[in-house]
Amino acid sequence: MKMIFLIILILLNAHLLIGSEIKNKFLEGGKVFVKKCKHCHDRRHKLGKKYTKQQWNEYFNNEAQLIKDRHPEHEVKDLFKKKRFLKRLPYLKMYIIEYAKDSGIPSETN
Ligand code: HEC
Repeated sequence: MKMIFLIILILLNAHLLIGSEIKNKFLEGGKVFVKKCKHCHDRRHKLGKKYTKQQWNEYFNNEAQLIKDRHPEHEVKDLFKKKRFLKRLPYLKMYIIEYAKDSGIPSETN
């Protein structure tokens, strides 16, 4: 009986840990957005709403090649040469995709 409790406790903790890790990544994505995208794209929900989750997945594929292609002549181009930025692309995706067209979350005012 004790053993079962112990296992449940361990599982619960693991769940919490995974939860907070996802949250940290999400926040990291938010930081990237604010630092690298926001001055042109204003609000995350506006950008997010442009595409469905599936479309966002495509946009973020291959080190976000499609996004890169949309900014051919900007400062943004150089971003995609930075390892640190490329590494954090999955977090940025997480952050933007929350407001995907098919997310069911309505646009916000903030
Ligand atoms: C210097 C300003 C600038 C920055 C910084 C910038 N963008 Fe853009 N972005 C633009 C412009 C201008 C367009 C429109 C280009 C076009 O019409 O295809 C665009 C287009 C896009 C599109 C296509 C949207 C559409 O309307 O179909 C996506 C997706 C996108 N940007 C994502 C991002 C992300 C993610 C970042 C941050 C990593 C970012 N952009 C940073 C200026 C910027």
